Amino acid sequence: GDTAVRRDRFSGGPAREFMSSLDADERIFTADLAVDRAHTVMLAEQGIVDSAVAGEILAALDDVETAGHGALPDGEDVHEAIETAVIDRIGPDGGRMHTARSRNDEVATCIRYRLREDLLDAVEATVAAREALVEVASEHAETVMPGYTHLQPAQPTTVAHYLLSYEGAVARDTERLLDAYDRVNRSPLGAAAFAGTPFEIDRDRTAELLGFDGTVRNSMDASAGRDFLVETTATLATHATTLSGIAEDLIIYANRGLVELSDDYSSTSSIMPQKKNPDPVELVRATAGTATGEVTGLLTTLKGLPRAYNLDLQEATPHAWTAVDSVSDATEVVAGAVATADWDEAALAAAAGEGFSTATGVADLLAMGGMPFRTAHEIVAAAAEAVDDGDSPDAAAAKVDEATRKVTGEPLSAYVSREDVESALDPAESVASRDSAGGPAPEAVDDELAA
Ligand code: ARG
Repeated sequence: GDTAVRRDRFSGGPAREFMSSLDADERIFTADLAVDRAHTVMLAEQGIVDSAVAGEILAALDDVETAGHGALPDGEDVHEAIETAVIDRIGPDGGRMHTARSRNDEVATCIRYRLREDLLDAVEATVAAREALVEVASEHAETVMPGYTHLQPAQPTTVAHYLLSYEGAVARDTERLLDAYDRVNRSPLGAAAFAGTPFEIDRDRTAELLGFDGTVRNSMDASAGRDFLVETTATLATHATTLSGIAEDLIIYANRGLVELSDDYSSTSSIMPQKKNPDPVELVRATAGTATGEVTGLLTTLKGLPRAYNLDLQEATPHAWTAVDSVSDATEVVAGAVATADWDEAALAAAAGEGFSTATGVADLLAMGGMPFRTAHEIVAAAAEAVDDGDSPDAAAAKVDEATRKVTGEPLSAYVSREDVESALDPAESVASRDSAGGPAPEAVDDELAA
C-alpha cells in the first residue's frame, strides 16, 4: 500500500515510453504550474493544507518553473513529473499538493487554460486577416474584375467586392472561435477522478484564480468531456476551409496574370530559374486538409468512449494543438499575401469583358423594359452564340437587336434604347448598375466598407 512501492511497481516495462505524454505535455507545462498554484492556494484558504506548507509548495513550483520543462524528472506525464519535482525539493509535504484532485481534472483544466490563449491568438489572426482584406478592398472599389461561376467568366464585379466576400466569411469564423472560447473557458478543476471529493474544496475559487468564467459543474462531465476540443478543432477546420478558398483563388488569378503575389509570398524553383510559384498559399490550401484530418482524428478517438476517463483522451489532445498551430499560421500567411498582392487593373479590366460576361445585365435591361425575364434570357442566349470577345459595343448591340427581332418579331428599340444596351455591355457600367444591398456597385461596396 505504500505509494513509493506502488509507483516503483508501475514505473518500468516496455510500455512506459509508449504511455508517456511528457514530451507532448511541454505545451501545458506553464498551464500545469498555474493550476498547481491555484489549487494549492485554495487548499490553504480552505484549511485543507497548512499555509506554511502551501508556501513551500508555491516556492518549489517557482523553482520548477525556472528550471523549465526540460529539467523535469521522468514521469508518465507533466502532472506526475512536476509533483515529483516538488517532492524532490521539499520532501513528502510536496505530495499534499495533490490532495482533493486527480490528474483527470488537472489535465482537463490545463488543456482549457492553454487552449484559451491559443484561441485568442487564432482570433487575433482572423481579425488581422480581415483588416488586410478590408484595407485592400478600400483601394479597389472601382477595380473591375471578372466574377466566376464554374470557373467561367460569369458577371463583372470588383476586387473590393470579391475581397469583402471573404471578409464576411472570416468574420463568421471569428465569431465561431469566440463562441468556442466561451465554452472552453470553464473550469473542470475539483472534479477529481470523476466522482468529486470529500474535502471541503472551493471549485469556484480555483476557477476564479485561473480566470475561468465559472466551472463545468458535473464532475464526471468535467473530467471526461472533450466536446470543447471537437468544437474548437471543427471551427478551425471551418476557418481553414475558408482560407483554402482564398488561396485557390489567388493561385488561379496569379496563374491568369490578374494578380501578382509579392516575392515574400512566392518561391522560385531549384531548377527552373524563370519560375515564381505561389508556394505559401498552396500550403494554406493544404492546411484545410490538415485541419480536417485533426477533426477526424479527434472524433474517431472520442467516438464510443465510455464514461469516464480513459487514456485515449491523452491521445485526443494533440489534434487540437496541431489544428490551432497550423491554421493560425495559415491565417497569418493569407493576411500577408492579401496585403502585399498587386492586382493588375488593366489585365483585370480586359478579362472582365471576356466571355460576354455582361450578358445578364443586358437581359436585366430588357426585362426592365417590360419583357418577361425568361424571354430576355432566350434572346441574350441567342446573341451570346454570335457575340465575340473582340466585338465593339456597337457590334454586340447589333447582334442583340438581331436576336430580339428573331425571338419577338420586334426590334430591340421596342424595349430599350440602343444606348442603354451599349452601356450595359460595358463591364464598369454593368458593375455600377448592380447597386442592390451587398452588391458590387462602388456605392454599395462603400456602404459595406463603412460597416
Ligand atoms: N496525461 C493524461 C492526459 O493527458 C492525464 C493522466 C490521467 N491518467 C490516468 N491514468 N488517469 O489525459
